[in-house]
Amino acid sequence: LAGDEIIILSNREPYIHNWKEDRVEVQVPASGLVTALEPIMRACSGVWIAHGSGSADRDTVDARGHVRVPPERPAYAIRRIWMKAEEETGYYYGFANEGLWPLCHLAHVRPVFRSQDWRHYKEINERFAMAVIEEAKTDNPVVLVQDYHLALAPKIIRDHLANATIITFWHIPWPNSERYAICPWHREILEGLLGSSILGFHTRFHCSNFIDSVDRLLESRIDRDTSTISHGGKLTAVHHYPISIEWPSGPLRAHPSVPDCRTQIRTLHRLKPEHRIALGVERLDYTKGILERFLAVERLLELQPEWIGRFTFIQIAAPSRSIIEQYRRFSEEVRALADRINARFGYTGYQPIVLLVEHHSPADLMTYYRGADCCFVSSLHDGMNLVAKEFVAARDDDQGVLILSQFTGAACELPEALIVNPYHIDQCAAALHLALTMPAVEQRARMRSMRGVVQEFNVYRWAGRMLMDAARMRQRARLIR
Ligand code: G6P
Repeated sequence: LAGDEIIILSNREPYIHNWKEDRVEVQVPASGLVTALEPIMRACSGVWIAHGSGSADRDTVDARGHVRVPPERPAYAIRRIWMKAEEETGYYYGFANEGLWPLCHLAHVRPVFRSQDWRHYKEINERFAMAVIEEAKTDNPVVLVQDYHLALAPKIIRDHLANATIITFWHIPWPNSERYAICPWHREILEGLLGSSILGFHTRFHCSNFIDSVDRLLESRIDRDTSTISHGGKLTAVHHYPISIEWPSGPLRAHPSVPDCRTQIRTLHRLKPEHRIALGVERLDYTKGILERFLAVERLLELQPEWIGRFTFIQIAAPSRSIIEQYRRFSEEVRALADRINARFGYTGYQPIVLLVEHHSPADLMTYYRGADCCFVSSLHDGMNLVAKEFVAARDDDQGVLILSQFTGAACELPEALIVNPYHIDQCAAALHLALTMPAVEQRARMRSMRGVVQEFNVYRWAGRMLMDAARMRQRARLIR
């Protein structure tokens, strides 16, 4: 693909410019998707089209709506898409996050589908697609469409740029076909996605759920051997590409040592040097299993009271989508549960659960990953989960235990973690106890093995495999034409 034009589309922009009093502050959002794509854009240049969401975004773009980033070493352009408040409400909060998000995640939250939201979702998808058409300098760019906010864009782009190579990646799970059919506009969404040349999911399982949905709901020709779908004269390859992270090299060496990180977080939280810490890190989202994790902590303290006063669970929860009622309610439940458990087992100077509902910088997160004894990922359902991989990448001392939900994509790649069912509270409590008492030799063996996997199958591999498949397709198209 050397020399080919690359355009990325995602709802979330990789850099948000905000006014802080009279100066502009640049913020990097807490999103696995951005973490994964940013290194590719830095390496390939190109244009990244995204929703301009910061208070200073409009003031930082040029006449074409472009801003060059990263701020310290500009390597590519962001083209911002503007939307009115009611459009954002319908497209992002409504259809994407009250409809598709709970539809695709099995977390027992009922999806809400409103015609008004759907209208905005369609309009905004058109706006994104038209921006691609304006930005394209050739008739066959490589377009990378990201996630469930933009399911309709691939078909609109295809209708205008027949020779474009459109790679769409769905970062969340795809439900089974019966559940998927709940969506009143299931047909339009499938047709939108089938505008793609390649449609990627994290796991084989989600690919086959998607293919089953097409099989059940659309007239099409499916070849299960090659995992391709032919619909309306257009062929789409449905493949799995497990996403990952950028393997740290230089930056980690620049970071404080593991013993320093251990001391820093214990000092910060006024804990003794030998105090044991388990960690949870995510957006405050009902799919992440935060309540189940706290219940497991409670169960641990009930069954193994020797941990009372010697163990703390630190939960970092970045506020997220808090305009949505479900998220607000969930946030209250999380706080109430932490308070109840702290009232039950805590005393002056000791809280078993420390809940930090705030954003943390990547450097701060690294300190927590390196300073903790255990990282607990208990998602009820998760496409991949990059926290698991970030924790592993942070532990160049080969220590630390990962407890990982079986319902994450990451569990397919990291079986050396302590794999748990987050609904099974006793099992999770036992895993916590095991993690806190695991001998260093066993921690090392498990961690080394996981580090090997995460290092090898890093984010460049993820993007590289998709781009290689795209290059092969383009080559074939040239030969056949
Ligand atoms: C998930 C989605 C991403 C999204 C991120 C943060 O990882 O797959 O597309 O960007 O959550 O959510 P937000 O709604 O804040 O963008």
